[in-house]
Amino acid sequence: MANAIEKFSDVGGLLRTECPKEPVYCIYPHVYRETARDFLRGFPGRVLYAVKANSDPTVLRLLTDAGIRHFDCASLPEIELIDAIDPDATKYFMIPARIRGAAGTAQEKHGVRHFLVDHLSGLSQLAKEIETSRSVIFARMAVHHESAMEDLSVRFGAQPEEMPRLLRSIRDSGAEPALAFNVGSSVTDPDAYRYSISITKSVLEQLPFRLRLIDVGGGYPKSYPGFIVPHLEEYFRAVAESVGTLPLADNAEVLGEPGRALAAPGMSAVVEVLLRKDNRLFINDGMFGVFWVLRIDGHDRYPVRTYRDSKPLEGATMEFQINGPTCDSTDTLPGLVPLPVDIRPGDYLEFGNIGAYSLTGRTDYNGYYSDRIVTITSPTETPPALQNGNGN
Ligand SMILES: Cc1ncc(COP(=O)(O)O)c(C=O)c1O
Repeated sequence: MANAIEKFSDVGGLLRTECPKEPVYCIYPHVYRETARDFLRGFPGRVLYAVKANSDPTVLRLLTDAGIRHFDCASLPEIELIDAIDPDATKYFMIPARIRGAAGTAQEKHGVRHFLVDHLSGLSQLAKEIETSRSVIFARMAVHHESAMEDLSVRFGAQPEEMPRLLRSIRDSGAEPALAFNVGSSVTDPDAYRYSISITKSVLEQLPFRLRLIDVGGGYPKSYPGFIVPHLEEYFRAVAESVGTLPLADNAEVLGEPGRALAAPGMSAVVEVLLRKDNRLFINDGMFGVFWVLRIDGHDRYPVRTYRDSKPLEGATMEFQINGPTCDSTDTLPGLVPLPVDIRPGDYLEFGNIGAYSLTGRTDYNGYYSDRIVTITSPTETPPALQNGNGN
């Protein structure tokens, strides 16, 4: 697939040559490479990137080049996208409700072998579309932990007491049974994994057979201003220690489905200030654009850098409310953002750590939509980051 993405050595250069009127989303390749490398080194098992977090082809290519070989997909288009980028990558179709025929096509045309169900009715539907004897079917268990900013067990997952029956039925269908859970997104306490794996243990102890694959899902958080989370190493340790206590097959493997942790750090959004009204700024992106996830994520802002005349603008700051450009009354970012006191229209803001759940959920509401994605090539340039984070 050709990659015609525009390149700039740094954001200052982008602003100098273009003064862009639309938001520009900046990919920092070296940050994606380092983030993927660190996760692959630290996670005690197979790493499946959750495509929903950021499905931009340049990002996906950077992740595959950095060694990510497995992809958690939620639809046939996501599977097709990964196949087009890397036909040798392994695609997993990890959602319990699918478009009719999608599982069959995924298997026939794209060689998908891993599927997921959370109910007996879903299993019988799936079994009609795929060849179970060459498939692994995960039974998804509902788990919730109070430290998850987003509770993913509300709509998906069988209750722990239903799991032994579901796993036995998967086995009876001729497929290899496996177990998956997803404790949530932006999970702020590594104990959430210890807790979920302890419930997994009680399920596994009721089975007359042993499983080979346990998928502990996503949820590995990032720190944002005012939202500091434990280091990833603590999550990896929690998973490694507690999976070690499970009664599993000899050749067992643990799988993880990170989205945010891989996608967030390597991308920034460069936006222009359109209007200032006292301490309220209006910018050309907002809650219907790349900031949409602030509605649900737990954190309320991103690290930010200001530019005037293509150069970083420093000096005394005060807190500003940031508004998007649309006419909707909810188009206001939830947190107050410290910015230079004399900020004015025509200045630019670069928001960092914005690569996860940003591009994938933006809309063209009111006609505001940018598809301008560029790479920042200088290896010494980095997106705005937390000054006082803990490295995560
Ligand atoms: C099934 C599944 N796997 C993985 C993820 C990725 O989660 P995160 O980005 O929090 O790591 C999600 C997020 O919604 C999910 O639903």
